[in-house]
Amino acid sequence: MELRDNFHRVIDYLRISITDRCNLRCIYCMPASGVRPLEHKEILTYEEVLRVVRVAATLGVRKIRLTGGEPLTRKNLTYLVASLKKIAGIEDMSLTTNGILLEKYARELADAGLDRVNVSLDSLRPDRFREMTRGGEISAVLRGIEAAEKAGLMPIKINMVPIRGLNGDEIEEFARMTLDTAYHVRFIEFMPIGAKDFWSDKRYISTNETKALVEKIGPLSPVRLRRNGPARYFRFDSAPGVIGFISALTHHFCGDCNRLRITADGKLRPCLFSETEIDLKPALRGSSSEEEIERLLRLSMEVKPEGHTINRSEGIRGEEHASGGSFPRALKPMSRIGG
Ligand code: GTP
Ligand code: 5AD
Ligand code: SF4
Repeated sequence: MELRDNFHRVIDYLRISITDRCNLRCIYCMPASGVRPLEHKEILTYEEVLRVVRVAATLGVRKIRLTGGEPLTRKNLTYLVASLKKIAGIEDMSLTTNGILLEKYARELADAGLDRVNVSLDSLRPDRFREMTRGGEISAVLRGIEAAEKAGLMPIKINMVPIRGLNGDEIEEFARMTLDTAYHVRFIEFMPIGAKDFWSDKRYISTNETKALVEKIGPLSPVRLRRNGPARYFRFDSAPGVIGFISALTHHFCGDCNRLRITADGKLRPCLFSETEIDLKPALRGSSSEEEIERLLRLSMEVKPEGHTINRSEGIRGEEHASGGSFPRALKPMSRIGG
C-alpha cells in the first residue's frame, strides 16, 4: 500500500507549507514588497491538512515537516501539531522555521508532540542579519534556538545558505558552532529559486568550496545518521555538533528522493523544481471520499520526475560548477512551496 513512484522510490516524507506569509523577507527568497499573500480561503484549513495526512499515513507516509512562509505565524499551530502527532503511522514530526517566534512557542509545541526543528539562519552578525532578512532581529532567533534546546526539540538543525559577497565569509564561523554545541549546522547550496533575479553564478558557492573552507579549521570525518535526507554529514574530531552539506545543485540527491510537498494553496507538488502540481482543494472541499484523496496522492507518484535538470541544462560545466545559462526557475514563490 506504499506510495511508490515510476522510478521505484518509496515516498514516506510529506512537507506541508501551511502559510505563504512570513515575518521576514530574506533577500534571496522574497521581493521587498509587492507579493500578494494568498487569501485565507485559498489556504488549506487544518481539518483539510489532517484529512490528507490521515490518508497519506495509510499509504506509508511516516515523516511530516511543516514549512511556510513562516509556519509559526499561523494561528493555533499547536492544535495542528498535536492532531498530526496523533495520526497512526506518523513517526517524525518537525518544523522548518526562521526562529523569530520560536522562543514563544518551543515549549508548547514540544508538549504537543513536535519532535524537532530546523532553523534557517544565514548570518551571525546582527547588522548583516537585519540586511539579509530586511529587518529581522538575530537576538530573537538565538533566544528561540535556546528555547528549542531547553524544550528538547533535538537535534536542532541550523540551515545556512552561503552566498558570495553576502555571508560567504561566515562559513567558518558557522562551522565552529559545532565545536561547542550539539547543533547540526548545514550548508545549503544556493538554488536558483525564490526571489526573481537574485540568484547568479557569481553569488553561488559550491559544496566543494564550502567544505574546503570548513576543513581549514580541522579534518572532517564522515558521520552516518539515521534518515540522512539530502545532507551529507561530517564532524570535527570529538566535536559535539555535526556539519552537513546539502548539495542541492552539484550532487543529485534526486535518486534517493523520498518526498512529496503540499503547497500553501493546497497543491500536491511532486518535485521542488517542477511546476507540475495536482490540486487537492476540489476533492477536500467537495464531497469526495478518502479513495479520491488516495487516487490524487497516487497520481502525484505518476508525475514525479526522475530529478531536476538544473545542472544538466545548457552551459553545464561539470560537478564543481553547477551553474549554467538557462536555469529553469520555479514560477511559484518559494514561500508557497515551503523549500
Ligand atoms: P531533515 O529531515 O531534518 O533532514 O530536513 P530537510 O533537510 O528535509 O528540511 P529543511 O526544510 O531543513 O530543508 C533544508 C534545505 O534542503 C532547504 O534549502 C530545502 O529547500 C532543501 N531541500 C529540501 N528538499 C529538497 C528537495 O527535494 N530538492 C532540493 N533540491 N532541495 C531540497
Ligand atoms: N537556495 C537554497 N536554500 C533556500 N532556502 C530558501 N531559498 C533557498 C534557495 N534559493 C532555504 C531556507 C530554509 C529552507 C527551508 O530553504 O534558508 O532554510
Ligand atoms: Fe521567510 Fe524563510 Fe523566505 Fe526568509 S527564507 S523570507 S524566513 S520563508
